[in-house]
Amino acid sequence: MALEKSLADAGHDQVRKQTAVYVYEAPVRLWHWVTALCIVTLSITGYLIGVPLPTMPGEASDNYLMGYIRFAHFSAGYVLALGLLGRIYWAFVGNHHARELFLVPIHKKAWWHELIHELRWYLFLEKTPKKYIGHNPLGQLAMFSVFVIGAIFMSVTGFALYGEGTGQGSWADRLFGWVIPLFGQSLDVHSWHRLGMWYILMFVMIHVYLAIREDIMSRQSLISTMVGGWRMFKDDKPD
Ligand code: HEM
Ligand code: HEM
Repeated sequence: MALEKSLADAGHDQVRKQTAVYVYEAPVRLWHWVTALCIVTLSITGYLIGVPLPTMPGEASDNYLMGYIRFAHFSAGYVLALGLLGRIYWAFVGNHHARELFLVPIHKKAWWHELIHELRWYLFLEKTPKKYIGHNPLGQLAMFSVFVIGAIFMSVTGFALYGEGTGQGSWADRLFGWVIPLFGQSLDVHSWHRLGMWYILMFVMIHVYLAIREDIMSRQSLISTMVGGWRMFKDDKPD
Protein backbone atom coordinates (compact mmCIF):
# COMPACT_ATOMS: atom_id res chain seq x y z
CA MET A 1 0.00 0.00 0.00
CA ALA A 2 2.83 2.35 0.91
CA LEU A 3 4.39 1.79 -2.49
CA GLU A 4 1.09 2.41 -4.29
CA LYS A 5 0.58 5.62 -2.31
CA SER A 6 4.06 6.91 -3.04
CA LEU A 7 3.64 6.04 -6.73
CA ALA A 8 0.30 7.86 -6.78
CA ASP A 9 1.92 10.84 -5.01
CA ALA A 10 4.61 10.86 -7.68
CA GLY A 11 1.92 11.22 -10.33
CA HIS A 12 1.75 7.61 -11.57
CA ASP A 13 -2.01 7.11 -11.87
CA GLN A 14 -1.75 3.91 -13.91
CA VAL A 15 -0.24 1.39 -11.54
CA ARG A 16 -0.67 -2.25 -12.52
CA LYS A 17 -0.26 -5.20 -10.19
CA GLN A 18 1.69 -8.29 -11.18
CA THR A 19 1.75 -11.72 -9.60
CA ALA A 20 4.94 -13.75 -10.03
CA VAL A 21 5.36 -17.51 -9.63
CA TYR A 22 8.66 -19.42 -9.88
CA VAL A 23 8.14 -22.09 -12.54
CA TYR A 24 11.20 -23.30 -14.46
CA GLU A 25 14.30 -24.21 -12.43
CA ALA A 26 17.78 -23.41 -13.74
CA PRO A 27 18.54 -26.90 -15.19
CA VAL A 28 15.30 -26.80 -17.22
CA ARG A 29 16.10 -23.35 -18.57
CA LEU A 30 19.71 -24.23 -19.35
CA TRP A 31 18.59 -27.43 -21.08
CA HIS A 32 16.04 -25.51 -23.16
CA TRP A 33 18.53 -23.04 -24.63
CA VAL A 34 21.34 -25.58 -25.10
CA THR A 35 18.87 -27.90 -26.87
CA ALA A 36 17.60 -25.06 -29.07
CA LEU A 37 21.20 -24.33 -30.11
CA CYS A 38 21.79 -28.04 -30.82
CA ILE A 39 18.68 -28.24 -33.02
CA VAL A 40 19.80 -25.23 -35.06
CA THR A 41 23.33 -26.70 -35.47
CA LEU A 42 22.02 -30.18 -36.28
CA SER A 43 19.52 -28.90 -38.83
CA ILE A 44 22.03 -26.73 -40.73
CA THR A 45 24.82 -29.34 -40.71
CA GLY A 46 22.38 -32.22 -41.32
CA TYR A 47 20.88 -30.41 -44.30
CA LEU A 48 24.38 -29.96 -45.72
CA ILE A 49 25.22 -33.64 -45.13
CA GLY A 50 22.14 -34.58 -47.18
CA VAL A 51 22.59 -31.88 -49.84
CA PRO A 52 26.35 -31.25 -49.83
CA LEU A 53 28.00 -28.08 -51.08
CA PRO A 54 29.50 -28.09 -54.59
CA THR A 55 32.83 -29.87 -54.95
CA MET A 56 35.78 -27.93 -53.53
CA PRO A 57 38.64 -27.06 -55.88
CA GLY A 58 42.04 -28.76 -55.65
CA GLU A 59 43.12 -32.09 -54.23
CA ALA A 60 40.59 -33.93 -52.08
CA SER A 61 43.21 -34.15 -49.33
CA ASP A 62 43.49 -30.31 -49.28
CA ASN A 63 39.89 -29.90 -48.09
CA TYR A 64 38.16 -31.04 -44.96
CA LEU A 65 34.95 -28.99 -45.16
CA MET A 66 32.51 -31.92 -45.03
CA GLY A 67 34.62 -33.39 -42.24
CA TYR A 68 34.11 -30.24 -40.14
CA ILE A 69 30.39 -30.18 -40.97
CA ARG A 70 30.01 -33.81 -39.93
CA PHE A 71 32.11 -33.21 -36.80
CA ALA A 72 29.81 -30.32 -35.78
CA HIS A 73 26.78 -32.55 -36.45
CA PHE A 74 28.05 -35.44 -34.36
CA SER A 75 29.18 -33.17 -31.48
CA ALA A 76 25.79 -31.44 -31.37
CA GLY A 77 24.18 -34.89 -31.64
CA TYR A 78 26.02 -36.06 -28.51
CA VAL A 79 25.05 -32.90 -26.61
CA LEU A 80 21.39 -33.25 -27.67
CA ALA A 81 21.16 -36.92 -26.65
CA LEU A 82 23.03 -36.54 -23.34
CA GLY A 83 21.01 -33.38 -22.60
CA LEU A 84 17.80 -35.31 -23.13
CA LEU A 85 18.94 -37.98 -20.66
CA GLY A 86 19.79 -35.21 -18.18
CA ARG A 87 16.37 -33.64 -18.71
CA ILE A 88 14.66 -37.01 -18.03
CA TYR A 89 16.69 -37.28 -14.80
CA TRP A 90 15.56 -33.76 -13.83
CA ALA A 91 11.92 -34.77 -14.33
CA PHE A 92 12.42 -37.12 -11.35
CA VAL A 93 14.27 -34.74 -9.03
CA GLY A 94 12.97 -31.31 -10.13
CA ASN A 95 9.75 -29.48 -9.21
CA HIS A 96 6.40 -30.65 -10.63
CA HIS A 97 6.66 -28.33 -13.65
CA ALA A 98 9.77 -30.29 -14.69
CA ARG A 99 7.53 -33.35 -15.20
CA GLU A 100 4.96 -31.63 -17.43
CA LEU A 101 7.05 -32.25 -20.53
CA PHE A 102 6.75 -36.02 -20.10
CA LEU A 103 3.44 -36.54 -18.29
CA VAL A 104 0.58 -35.36 -20.48
CA PRO A 105 -2.72 -35.76 -18.58
CA ILE A 106 -4.82 -37.03 -21.51
CA HIS A 107 -7.06 -38.89 -19.04
CA LYS A 108 -8.40 -35.59 -17.62
CA LYS A 109 -11.54 -34.13 -19.18
CA ALA A 110 -10.71 -30.59 -18.03
CA TRP A 111 -7.36 -30.79 -19.80
CA TRP A 112 -9.11 -31.55 -23.11
CA HIS A 113 -11.52 -28.62 -22.56
CA GLU A 114 -8.59 -26.30 -22.00
CA LEU A 115 -6.83 -27.72 -25.05
CA ILE A 116 -9.83 -26.84 -27.24
CA HIS A 117 -9.99 -23.39 -25.65
CA GLU A 118 -6.30 -22.85 -26.38
CA LEU A 119 -6.74 -23.95 -29.99
CA ARG A 120 -9.66 -21.54 -30.41
CA TRP A 121 -7.63 -18.74 -28.79
CA TYR A 122 -4.76 -19.36 -31.22
CA LEU A 123 -7.26 -19.24 -34.11
CA PHE A 124 -8.57 -15.87 -32.85
CA LEU A 125 -11.96 -17.45 -31.99
CA GLU A 126 -11.74 -16.67 -28.24
CA LYS A 127 -11.52 -13.18 -26.81
CA THR A 128 -9.78 -13.92 -23.52
CA PRO A 129 -6.73 -16.09 -22.97
CA LYS A 130 -6.53 -18.58 -20.12
CA LYS A 131 -3.55 -18.31 -17.82
CA TYR A 132 -1.28 -21.18 -16.92
CA ILE A 133 1.52 -21.44 -14.39
CA GLY A 134 3.26 -24.24 -16.34
CA HIS A 135 2.68 -25.24 -19.97
CA ASN A 136 -0.71 -24.72 -21.62
CA PRO A 137 -2.30 -28.05 -22.73
CA LEU A 138 -1.75 -27.52 -26.46
CA GLY A 139 1.88 -26.55 -25.96
CA GLN A 140 2.37 -29.51 -23.65
CA LEU A 141 0.93 -31.95 -26.19
CA ALA A 142 3.14 -30.58 -28.99
CA MET A 143 6.24 -30.51 -26.79
CA PHE A 144 5.79 -34.16 -25.90
CA SER A 145 4.45 -35.71 -29.10
CA VAL A 146 6.56 -33.73 -31.53
CA PHE A 147 9.66 -32.62 -29.68
CA VAL A 148 10.34 -35.37 -27.11
CA ILE A 149 9.33 -38.25 -29.39
CA GLY A 150 11.09 -36.56 -32.33
CA ALA A 151 14.33 -36.01 -30.40
CA ILE A 152 14.36 -39.64 -29.21
CA PHE A 153 13.75 -40.82 -32.78
CA MET A 154 16.55 -38.58 -34.11
CA SER A 155 18.98 -39.77 -31.42
CA VAL A 156 18.26 -43.46 -32.09
CA THR A 157 18.47 -43.19 -35.89
CA GLY A 158 21.41 -40.74 -35.63
CA PHE A 159 23.49 -43.05 -33.47
CA ALA A 160 22.59 -46.01 -35.70
CA LEU A 161 24.09 -44.09 -38.67
CA TYR A 162 27.00 -42.99 -36.49
CA GLY A 163 27.68 -46.65 -35.67
CA GLU A 164 28.23 -47.30 -39.38
CA GLY A 165 31.16 -44.88 -39.26
CA THR A 166 32.63 -45.99 -35.94
CA GLY A 167 32.46 -49.58 -37.16
CA GLN A 168 31.29 -52.99 -36.08
CA GLY A 169 31.71 -53.65 -32.37
CA SER A 170 31.78 -49.90 -31.44
CA TRP A 171 29.36 -48.85 -28.69
CA ALA A 172 27.09 -47.05 -31.17
CA ASP A 173 26.94 -50.13 -33.39
CA ARG A 174 26.31 -52.48 -30.46
CA LEU A 175 23.57 -50.28 -28.96
CA PHE A 176 21.88 -49.01 -32.14
CA GLY A 177 23.09 -51.23 -35.00
CA TRP A 178 19.76 -53.15 -34.96
CA VAL A 179 17.95 -50.02 -36.16
CA ILE A 180 19.34 -50.23 -39.71
CA PRO A 181 17.91 -53.66 -40.67
CA LEU A 182 14.68 -52.64 -38.92
CA PHE A 183 14.21 -49.81 -41.44
CA GLY A 184 15.57 -51.85 -44.35
CA GLN A 185 19.02 -50.52 -45.15
CA SER A 186 21.25 -47.52 -44.48
CA LEU A 187 19.62 -45.25 -47.07
CA ASP A 188 16.19 -45.83 -45.52
CA VAL A 189 17.52 -44.72 -42.13
CA HIS A 190 19.05 -41.63 -43.80
CA SER A 191 15.66 -40.77 -45.34
CA TRP A 192 13.74 -41.23 -42.09
CA HIS A 193 16.38 -39.27 -40.16
CA ARG A 194 16.02 -36.50 -42.72
CA LEU A 195 12.21 -36.54 -42.51
CA GLY A 196 12.53 -36.40 -38.71
CA MET A 197 14.33 -33.08 -39.08
CA TRP A 198 11.28 -31.53 -40.77
CA TYR A 199 8.99 -32.98 -38.09
CA ILE A 200 11.03 -31.17 -35.43
CA LEU A 201 11.47 -27.99 -37.49
CA MET A 202 7.70 -27.83 -37.97
CA PHE A 203 7.40 -27.77 -34.16
CA VAL A 204 10.15 -25.14 -33.82
CA MET A 205 8.53 -22.72 -36.29
CA ILE A 206 5.11 -22.89 -34.60
CA HIS A 207 6.69 -22.88 -31.13
CA VAL A 208 8.73 -19.73 -31.66
CA TYR A 209 5.81 -17.93 -33.32
CA LEU A 210 3.47 -18.82 -30.43
CA ALA A 211 6.02 -18.01 -27.72
CA ILE A 212 6.36 -14.49 -29.12
CA ARG A 213 2.62 -14.12 -29.82
CA GLU A 214 1.59 -15.29 -26.34
CA ASP A 215 4.19 -13.10 -24.67
CA ILE A 216 2.47 -10.12 -26.26
CA MET A 217 -1.18 -11.20 -26.20
CA SER A 218 -1.83 -13.48 -23.24
CA ARG A 219 -1.07 -11.05 -20.36
CA GLN A 220 1.50 -13.44 -18.89
CA SER A 221 5.25 -13.65 -19.43
CA LEU A 222 6.65 -16.49 -21.52
CA ILE A 223 10.09 -15.88 -22.99
CA SER A 224 11.46 -14.17 -19.87
CA THR A 225 10.06 -17.14 -17.88
CA MET A 226 12.33 -19.46 -19.86
CA VAL A 227 15.23 -17.08 -19.11
CA GLY A 228 14.72 -16.19 -15.45
CA GLY A 229 12.31 -18.88 -14.27
CA TRP A 230 9.51 -16.56 -13.03
CA ARG A 231 6.08 -16.29 -14.66
CA MET A 232 4.56 -12.80 -14.36
CA PHE A 233 0.79 -12.50 -14.51
CA LYS A 234 -0.31 -9.04 -15.49
CA ASP A 235 -3.53 -7.46 -14.15
CA ASP A 236 -5.03 -10.41 -12.31
CA LYS A 237 -4.17 -13.65 -10.57
CA PRO A 238 -3.71 -16.99 -12.46
CA ASP A 239 -6.79 -19.19 -12.60
C1 HEM B 1 17.15 -33.20 -34.15
C2 HEM B 1 18.33 -33.66 -34.32
C3 HEM B 1 18.93 -34.00 -35.67
C4 HEM B 1 18.71 -33.48 -36.92
C5 HEM B 1 17.72 -32.38 -37.29
C6 HEM B 1 19.56 -34.20 -37.85
C7 HEM B 1 19.58 -34.00 -39.22
C8 HEM B 1 20.30 -34.78 -40.12
C9 HEM B 1 20.16 -34.75 -41.55
C10 HEM B 1 19.18 -33.86 -42.32
C11 HEM B 1 21.03 -35.65 -42.07
C12 HEM B 1 21.24 -35.97 -43.56
C13 HEM B 1 20.43 -37.20 -43.92
C14 HEM B 1 20.60 -37.56 -45.37
O1 HEM B 1 19.91 -36.98 -46.21
O2 HEM B 1 21.45 -38.40 -45.65
C15 HEM B 1 21.75 -36.25 -40.98
C16 HEM B 1 22.72 -37.22 -41.11
C17 HEM B 1 23.35 -37.82 -40.04
N1 HEM B 1 23.10 -37.58 -38.70
FE1 HEM B 1 21.73 -36.34 -37.94
N2 HEM B 1 20.32 -35.11 -37.14
C18 HEM B 1 19.96 -35.03 -35.82
C19 HEM B 1 20.44 -35.78 -34.77
C20 HEM B 1 21.52 -36.63 -34.87
C21 HEM B 1 22.12 -37.32 -33.77
C22 HEM B 1 21.68 -37.22 -32.30
C23 HEM B 1 23.14 -38.05 -34.28
C24 HEM B 1 24.08 -38.90 -33.47
C25 HEM B 1 25.36 -38.74 -33.50
C26 HEM B 1 23.16 -37.85 -35.71
C27 HEM B 1 24.02 -38.46 -36.60
C28 HEM B 1 23.94 -38.39 -37.96
C29 HEM B 1 24.75 -39.19 -38.86
C30 HEM B 1 25.81 -40.22 -38.46
C31 HEM B 1 24.39 -38.83 -40.17
C32 HEM B 1 24.95 -39.39 -41.48
C33 HEM B 1 26.23 -38.68 -41.80
C34 HEM B 1 26.80 -39.10 -43.14
O3 HEM B 1 26.24 -39.99 -43.80
O4 HEM B 1 27.81 -38.51 -43.53
N3 HEM B 1 22.17 -36.98 -36.04
N4 HEM B 1 21.27 -35.70 -39.79
C1 HEM C 1 15.17 -25.15 -31.81
C2 HEM C 1 14.57 -24.37 -31.02
C3 HEM C 1 13.68 -24.73 -29.84
C4 HEM C 1 13.27 -25.93 -29.35
C5 HEM C 1 13.58 -27.32 -29.87
C6 HEM C 1 12.44 -25.66 -28.20
C7 HEM C 1 11.84 -26.62 -27.40
C8 HEM C 1 11.13 -26.38 -26.24
C9 HEM C 1 10.69 -27.37 -25.29
C10 HEM C 1 10.91 -28.86 -25.44
C11 HEM C 1 10.07 -26.73 -24.29
C12 HEM C 1 9.49 -27.37 -23.02
C13 HEM C 1 10.49 -27.12 -21.90
C14 HEM C 1 10.32 -28.01 -20.69
O1 HEM C 1 9.21 -28.23 -20.21
O2 HEM C 1 11.35 -28.52 -20.21
C15 HEM C 1 10.07 -25.32 -24.57
C16 HEM C 1 9.52 -24.32 -23.81
C17 HEM C 1 9.57 -22.99 -24.13
N1 HEM C 1 10.24 -22.41 -25.20
FE1 HEM C 1 11.29 -23.35 -26.61
N2 HEM C 1 12.36 -24.30 -28.02
C18 HEM C 1 13.11 -23.71 -29.01
C19 HEM C 1 13.33 -22.36 -29.21
C20 HEM C 1 12.69 -21.37 -28.52
C21 HEM C 1 12.81 -19.95 -28.79
C22 HEM C 1 13.68 -19.33 -29.87
C23 HEM C 1 12.02 -19.32 -27.87
C24 HEM C 1 11.77 -17.86 -27.69
C25 HEM C 1 11.34 -17.07 -28.64
C26 HEM C 1 11.40 -20.34 -27.04
C27 HEM C 1 10.54 -20.10 -26.01
C28 HEM C 1 10.04 -21.06 -25.16
C29 HEM C 1 9.19 -20.74 -24.02
C30 HEM C 1 8.69 -19.36 -23.64
C31 HEM C 1 8.89 -21.95 -23.39
C32 HEM C 1 8.00 -22.13 -22.17
C33 HEM C 1 6.58 -22.16 -22.65
C34 HEM C 1 5.62 -22.35 -21.51
O3 HEM C 1 5.88 -21.86 -20.42
O4 HEM C 1 4.62 -23.04 -21.70
N3 HEM C 1 11.83 -21.58 -27.46
N4 HEM C 1 10.74 -25.13 -25.78
